[in-house]
Amino acid sequence: KKIISVIGARPQFIKHAPMQIQLQKHFNALTIHTGQHYDPGMSDVFFNELKIPAPDYRFHLNGKLHGQQTAEMMTEIEQIAVKEKPDGLLVYGDTNSTLAGALVASKLHIPIIHIEAGLRSFNREMPEEVNRVLTDHISELLFCPSNAAVENLKAEGIERNVHLCGDVMKDMLSLASGYLGDKMEGKPYYFATIHRPYNTDVTERMLVILESLNALNAPVVFAIHPRTVSRLSDYKVDLAAYKNIIAIPPVGYFDSLSYQAYSLGVITDSGGVQKEAYWLKKRCITIRKETEWLETLTGNWNQLVFDDVASIREKLDMSLSDYNEELYGTVDNSATIVSLLNDKFYK
Ligand code: UD1
Ligand code: UDP
Repeated sequence: KKIISVIGARPQFIKHAPMQIQLQKHFNALTIHTGQHYDPGMSDVFFNELKIPAPDYRFHLNGKLHGQQTAEMMTEIEQIAVKEKPDGLLVYGDTNSTLAGALVASKLHIPIIHIEAGLRSFNREMPEEVNRVLTDHISELLFCPSNAAVENLKAEGIERNVHLCGDVMKDMLSLASGYLGDKMEGKPYYFATIHRPYNTDVTERMLVILESLNALNAPVVFAIHPRTVSRLSDYKVDLAAYKNIIAIPPVGYFDSLSYQAYSLGVITDSGGVQKEAYWLKKRCITIRKETEWLETLTGNWNQLVFDDVASIREKLDMSLSDYNEELYGTVDNSATIVSLLNDKFYK
């Protein structure tokens, strides 16, 4: 049987790495890279480090606005799906690449396999929330990382073919554990990543975040996503003026985990980084109003900060408790998912 996976954004390369290993064991497993992320540091580095086979198809997009970007992906994915006639189309998470793949597959009656199904922020202003709701509602097979995700689907009337299978990023993190080291050679620091439009695309807010990072009691290594680079340049922000911030380009996966693992704590608005900080037993401050990864909030391991960004400082001192080793499954989640596909659905 043939399964085509559609990937395109940084976190999807990381999720696909352990999945592709498993998929190849049982399926003719093809990959489409939509080109949503294209800088070498946002794409190639992950294929190289994580030994992901080169994609069978790769696009080069022109669109900057969501509509055009998604439409360009759909046009290309459709042609491939018509030609390849896969038995399933697999998508991850909630990006525009996810939605483009899912919409094409649904029109062609190709079963959609959604990994990381059922997550909700209940904030429809986030493009990701719309992408994941739509994808879940047209998916044939839904793999959820948490009970809460299963319940979210149930509340929307989706109960058929819903499986609780843990999170494939946990598998990847466990595979990476031998590759981590202290990038800062024993110096104390925090690690930060920020890329959500509601944080980056409003000048005032971006500046308040930078000021709050600058006011912390240890240097902040800030790995800057290209969206954020572009906004900082629009705002004519000179990061050299923020003496406590060590600005670096986006880093590879092993470096991202290394920076997190040896830090005093992590400050982020990323979905994936919230989970990784947790699994690495690091405190995390999430600069968002809500999180889809609710379970990480237990025991202060992850804390939300939105209106009062300056409160990051005191939140970093809160005591931690109730760590859950089993959060989001085992480290064999991808094998569980692919076994279910192989033994049940595609038998
Ligand atoms: C996307 C996802 C978001 C995910 C994030 C992961 C959507 C709607 N958003 O957000 O859910 O958390 O990826 O990182 O799918 N750019 C570059 N080089 C690149 C990639 C992007 O310069 O390699 C710049 C481009 O100017 C682009 C902008 O960043 O217009 C935003 O990229 P885009 O993929 O549209 O959204 P992200 O903010 O990356
Ligand atoms: N990441 C990385 N380099 C960086 C920042 C993040 O490799 O400079 C990794 C991070 O460790 C995690 C994933 O990218 O595995 C998260 O992706 P991102 O924050 O881009 O998207 P989100 O998870 O918010 O959708």
